[in-house]
Amino acid sequence: MHCVRKVTDDLYWVGANDHRLALFENIHPIPKGVSYNAYLLLDESTVLFDTVDWSACRQLLENMEHLLEGRGLDYLVINHMEPDHGASIEEILIRYPQVKVISTEKAFMLMHQFGFHVDGHECIQVKEGDGFSFGTHEVVFVGAPMVHWPEAMVTFDTTSGVLFSADAFGSFIALDGKLFADEVDFDRDWIDEARRYLTNIVGKYGPHIQLLLKKAGGILDQIKFICPLHGPVWRKDLGYFIDKYDKWSRYEPEVKGVMIAYASMYGNTEAAAQALAARLCEKGVTNVAVYDVSNTHVSYLIAEAWKYSHIVLASVTYNLGIYPVMKSFLEDMKALNLQNRTFALIENGSWACKSGDLMEKFIAEEMKDMTVLNERLSLASALHADKAAELDALADAIAASLEGKE
Ligand code: FEO
Repeated sequence: MHCVRKVTDDLYWVGANDHRLALFENIHPIPKGVSYNAYLLLDESTVLFDTVDWSACRQLLENMEHLLEGRGLDYLVINHMEPDHGASIEEILIRYPQVKVISTEKAFMLMHQFGFHVDGHECIQVKEGDGFSFGTHEVVFVGAPMVHWPEAMVTFDTTSGVLFSADAFGSFIALDGKLFADEVDFDRDWIDEARRYLTNIVGKYGPHIQLLLKKAGGILDQIKFICPLHGPVWRKDLGYFIDKYDKWSRYEPEVKGVMIAYASMYGNTEAAAQALAARLCEKGVTNVAVYDVSNTHVSYLIAEAWKYSHIVLASVTYNLGIYPVMKSFLEDMKALNLQNRTFALIENGSWACKSGDLMEKFIAEEMKDMTVLNERLSLASALHADKAAELDALADAIAASLEGKE
């Protein structure tokens, strides 16, 4: 049975939702699912914009068959070749042998690498600024390299103001019937998962997103719809989400507040993290979020690190090093290019307290544009009353820094 939604008079969402996949890219948990969006334009020519993950191919085919009503498929536009969108290309080519494929040079190279037999089809290679007409609809192709792979492009339909934005402006969470962002309470129910998607999938490529936003900036008044490859379609309040993408890709904190991430073996470092959270709240700093790195998937930690201006790392010393899970969080922040945050440190060690110096060294030497506050809380096994002044000084330093008094 088909399951489609109308985007405009002649454009339809023909994608699918996935609640069965546990790990996106086999690494990021998606407890609320994900959608693979594809769009079908019924103009003088029929045009499919991107395909779907292999697991959703059958749904895509049923959706297309329903809407095409016996017409053939004239064009397949591939904006992004990653298999969560490109895996069904081969099947589309088999079902619609007359289809002409439009994409970038690098995308065609990837199609060959993945073993898709496009050679028997007319392949139309496009580059930045090329235009194309499907009848009434005229489109322009715009390069979007590294958003999220090097071959990516976006397509702008100048007739209807639809931007097919590939991975940009995407989000985790399955649509479950609600296609448009204005059909959900996005700021309440979706923003955390949208941030987790962006930061973990494309966070590393902030400058490339900035480049794309700059290009979009020139035609902002013409963009009426943003149709991403995951998550809802935007037709209202586009500025809200564009502004979020701008902040995230500039590595600018979204809120002034404190993320406290602790690594604790027996609860003593955790107790210090909790004591700091309480001291901060007593001082009026209530925008505080506390996470145990051992039982929080790192993709959530990354999203929160993107959100908050201040990050406290509290780590026990383990085999004379940083606790491995905390080390992995640091490595992930580095790998994803997080910048421009203020850190404070809590260290613990029963017979050699090394984690504070090691975390500070990592932040200073391996990461960009980070500040580490001088105040540090050092524990020998557990937090005792004699550390009250140190704890208070740390909370004061964080509060002052939040107020810009550092
Ligand atoms: Fe949703 Fe980069 O693929």
